[in-house]
Amino acid sequence: MKPRVLSGIQPTGSLHIGNYLGALKNWVTLQDTFECIFCIVDLHAITVYQDPAELHAKIEQTAGLFLAAGIDPAKSAVVVQSTVKGHAELSWLLTCVTPVGWLERMTQFKDKSAKQESVGAGLLNYPVLMAADILLYQAAIVPVGDDQSQHLELTRDIAQRFNALYGDTFVMPATKLPAVGARIMGLDAPTKKMSKSTEGSGHAISLLDPPATIRKKIMRATTDSLPGVDFDNLGPGVVNLLAIHQAFTGWTNDQTRAHFAGMRYGDLKKTVAEAVVAGLEPLQTRYHEIMADPAYLRGILRDSAERASALAEQTVRLVKERMGVYAG
Ligand code: TYM
Repeated sequence: MKPRVLSGIQPTGSLHIGNYLGALKNWVTLQDTFECIFCIVDLHAITVYQDPAELHAKIEQTAGLFLAAGIDPAKSAVVVQSTVKGHAELSWLLTCVTPVGWLERMTQFKDKSAKQESVGAGLLNYPVLMAADILLYQAAIVPVGDDQSQHLELTRDIAQRFNALYGDTFVMPATKLPAVGARIMGLDAPTKKMSKSTEGSGHAISLLDPPATIRKKIMRATTDSLPGVDFDNLGPGVVNLLAIHQAFTGWTNDQTRAHFAGMRYGDLKKTVAEAVVAGLEPLQTRYHEIMADPAYLRGILRDSAERASALAEQTVRLVKERMGVYAG
């Protein structure tokens, strides 16, 4: 049996090149070696208010982007989280073994709750649901961007605590970060992570941005006051542009250094913009083809939900038995 891989993306805002380089692009390469399950985590999305019609549309659009990026439904399951009831079920069972203090310490909880007038319990419990996503399928590997590392540590803590209380039940999942692109920064503010929720047209490059928009955003990206690329003195904006280029092209550090050393920022930006445009073009073409056939997409989501539900059932039953609740 192949070890399992699980990861997920929230169907909110517009997916950007951070989501692509930190997660989606790397998922594609794992499909031959592992049994993969990739989730559109709509139950996570509603931990902050979402317009219902918009959320509904975003779920299918996100699934379309997974396929367009190269997720092959013949190899991998593309699962809408809410369609497999084991996610919510296991989440409750794990909530009961998770100390509140662990959840209050989460950086993302502190950041997100600081922005809300009234903090929903879902926001506090968010990482438990994420642990449930992973542990439900006994995933061994979780490919994510760097911002999810703390949630993955918590997942292992919860799994260990459960195993200690009720006996060996869960596989310990490992975090898999990409070598380049684990943390893509905002183009307008290169000390802040590129994020779906940050306002401003110059902040993120969406996966569906037309080439002219991509070029415009990159040409306006914040750099510093040096005239050109100095590898002994790289500012965060230049580091970010070089990382984006490397992640799209697969160039080594040596190739990158040899090509860009001393290059003026205007030329650097043009080169980066062309790499991003070329890197996203096939994805954009496939996306529009996929979205033109909603019946095909919905069929894949139904099949994946069925396959995933069968796996999820086994874990939920085992966990219930271990905890002594009535498994039927
Ligand atoms: P989300 O939807 O915020 O992001 C999806 C993936 O994109 C990565 N990412 C980035 N990578 C590099 N640079 C960035 N600027 C950047 N921004 C986002 C994230 O690390 C993530 O891999 N809680 C998760 C979703 C989730 C999940 C899971 C992930 C729910 N259940 C189970 C893994 C396993 C989240 O909000 O991701």
